[in-house]
Amino acid sequence: MEKQEIRTFGRRHGKKLSARQQWLIENRLPRPEKLPAGRVILEIGFGAGEHVRAIALENPKKTIIGAEPFVNGVASLMSAITDGKNNILPEYKNIRIWPDDVRGLLRECNTLFERIWILHPDPWPKARHEKRRLLQTEFIKTLAGRLAPGGEIIIGTDHWEYFDWICARAMDARVAYETPSLDIVRTRYQNKNMAATSAPKYIVIKNK
Ligand SMILES: C[S@@+](CC[C@H](N)C(=O)[O-])C[C@H]1O[C@@H](n2cnc3c(N)ncnc32)[C@H](O)[C@@H]1O
Repeated sequence: MEKQEIRTFGRRHGKKLSARQQWLIENRLPRPEKLPAGRVILEIGFGAGEHVRAIALENPKKTIIGAEPFVNGVASLMSAITDGKNNILPEYKNIRIWPDDVRGLLRECNTLFERIWILHPDPWPKARHEKRRLLQTEFIKTLAGRLAPGGEIIIGTDHWEYFDWICARAMDARVAYETPSLDIVRTRYQNKNMAATSAPKYIVIKNK
């Protein structure tokens, strides 16, 4: 994170990692250094990684990069994608993990993404925390500029006030967007449904 950047995430650490999780992070983390040529999908703030795993299985020929600064989330994903001998399972070999703020990744690589997923971004509901919301106008413009031709950004949130706020920022960013109903794998935060709404709403920003 660059000094002047607002921190958009809460904790970096939760409960102490198990010895195995710590070892996996130190020795088996599939960093996105050597990206194979081809189509790349990015998920920002993957939490425990349920959706990263689902799209990795759905897209075996594509590279999936997950970015998440919360170390316990990274550890959960590492546990789920490795076998009893601590090797990455063959079906998850297309996953790469950036264990940090996605903005650092975007500065380090010039990859264009076929799809960018952001599921349940922290809503920062108090007015004084609004500046910590990830989907600011400038960030939406940055992400839209990193889409491959025909690519799209899919944002899902069950916090309907944040949904309206993101739509307003998308208008400010002058990007083309739609708000379809989608049925996708449930993530931990969707199950928590802290906003107590009936369903998540989605915003799809297209690179036309
Ligand atoms: C409310 S959680 C949702 C997690 C997951 N997508 C889900 O639906 O269960 C939001 C996540 O976004 C992550 N996050 C916030 N700012 C981020 C950033 N700048 N780069 C990457 N991840 C970020 C947080 O660490 C947190 O895990």
